[in-house]
Amino acid sequence: MSGQIINGKEIVASIRAEITEQVRELTEQGTQPGLVVIIVGEDPASQVYVRNKAKSCEQVGIYSEVHALPASTTQQELIALIHLFNKDQRIHGILVQSPLPKHINEEAVVDEIDPAKDVDCFHPVNVGNLMIGKDGMKPCTPAGVIEVLKRTGVDIAGKHAVVVGRSNIVGKPMAMLLLREHATVTVCHSRTPNMAEITRQADILVVAVGKAHLIKAEHVKPGAVVIDVGMNRPADGKLTGDVDFEAVKEVAGAITPVPGTVGPMTITMLLQNTVDSARRASQASVRV
Ligand code: GUN
Repeated sequence: MSGQIINGKEIVASIRAEITEQVRELTEQGTQPGLVVIIVGEDPASQVYVRNKAKSCEQVGIYSEVHALPASTTQQELIALIHLFNKDQRIHGILVQSPLPKHINEEAVVDEIDPAKDVDCFHPVNVGNLMIGKDGMKPCTPAGVIEVLKRTGVDIAGKHAVVVGRSNIVGKPMAMLLLREHATVTVCHSRTPNMAEITRQADILVVAVGKAHLIKAEHVKPGAVVIDVGMNRPADGKLTGDVDFEAVKEVAGAITPVPGTVGPMTITMLLQNTVDSARRASQASVRV
């Protein structure tokens, strides 16, 4: 048996068409959504991500600014810039591209972003809101995974979802969003013994560890839905996921290819967070 290869491009295109329409409506009503992306230093991968984010904004009609700062920028200078954008009414989303140079404390920087503009959903207030199920910012990569599942026709409620990885950016918020969708959730990580025994129980398996080909056919229950969040670039330079795609696609019921699905979905959710933030800002200005 061979699994369905999830068509990320189609899903991304249909959500971006919806976002374009929302941006058009908001802009007509006088609030063009705006995103600022701040990058510090010369990390080449980050420069590519930032360019993709700006290009994606342009495609859906979101106003965007990119601020590229030298690696020598101090933490205070970066925080001063964030404070300016916290007050800037054209800007509804502030994203500080990670990683930052070593002399800057990322947590301290994120703490300074107005939670209402924290489109990454990294600020402790937004992380707390996520935990108690309050509507608001959604963590981009995990929210993208939920959209992919829903738009592939996967019924999440009552399923056993296993998340491999416990990072603050993907694993932990992923578990929280799956729980919100009424899955039974198990989180595995580097200290989990006999991981294959657990992953083989998964109806939905989400893998986000950053280890090329960690998940093999023996880790997967026949018919399971496998979502690969990994983005690894081994010595041969070819972008590859955390799942051994060729082997696992023979066992899985459905599987996401890398690259092609989760990466573009993450940016799509960033656009959606920016639009939602702009909508909340425009509604708040009507109320006062
Ligand atoms: N670096 C790699 N991915 C991300 C992301 O989603 N947000 C931010 N801020 N930095 C990143």
